Amino acid sequence: MGPKFRAVGDPTHMNIVVSNVKGGVGKTTTSVYLAAVAVGRNQGPVILVDADPQGSTAEWYDADPIEGVELVEGPSVRTVGKAMNREDGIIVVDTPPGEGTVVQAALSRADAVVIPTRAGGVEPNRVVSTLGMTPRDIPAGVVICSARLGTNDLEATVEWWTELDVPVWGIVPERVSIASGPAAALSSEGLEHYGKVLRKAMGKRR
Ligand SMILES: Nc1ncnc2c1ncn2[C@@H]1O[C@H](COP(=O)(O)OP(=O)(O)OP(=O)(O)O)[C@@H](O)[C@H]1O
Ligand SMILES: [Mg+2]
Repeated sequence: MGPKFRAVGDPTHMNIVVSNVKGGVGKTTTSVYLAAVAVGRNQGPVILVDADPQGSTAEWYDADPIEGVELVEGPSVRTVGKAMNREDGIIVVDTPPGEGTVVQAALSRADAVVIPTRAGGVEPNRVVSTLGMTPRDIPAGVVICSARLGTNDLEATVEWWTELDVPVWGIVPERVSIASGPAAALSSEGLEHYGKVLRKAMGKRR
């Protein structure tokens, strides 16, 4: 094998890790939508990696495959590492909740970290924990999922992140069409919102 190197700023490769220590916040939904909007953004392939042994992303993909997206089921440090060590393509990695070794392996190889979260409650503490596992120089932003637009709770949450200096890369409204998962086609509104999130994640790339 020849020497392996990756040019800095090479637009044909990027590892985007979707992670939050907390469960049920929107990681799988965010991963699937990000992979879908990544198609056509790049000459390379789009790979959706399901690093969660629950297999929700894989189930979604099997029920409703996305054209142009390849699925890799990789719930082990080895398989996640292998998928993320590719030299081309946009790799979107859905991770399980918690701080396990697979999550750490994914975060350590990330070029950008997308942190799905919800408005209100104890969310910030969990996100800080995810940020703690992310290498310092890697761009990270939160996406407020299933947001109730126009509520004080949402406004206060955005303010909170701004004060903490954690960028808000997206606010995705609560929609039945998005909650339907693989039972329905990807929602055009969801695709629009996640398209913006992807641009932020890719634009922040070093
Ligand atoms: N914008 C949205 N509007 C409505 N429902 C949403 C939205 N985003 C996510 N959800 C719903 O929230 C629930 C949790 O989402 P999801 O499964 O993506 O979270 P997760 O973080 O992957 O969960 P887990 O930790 O179990 O893997 C799901 O029922 C999903 O359909
Ligand atoms: Mg999930």
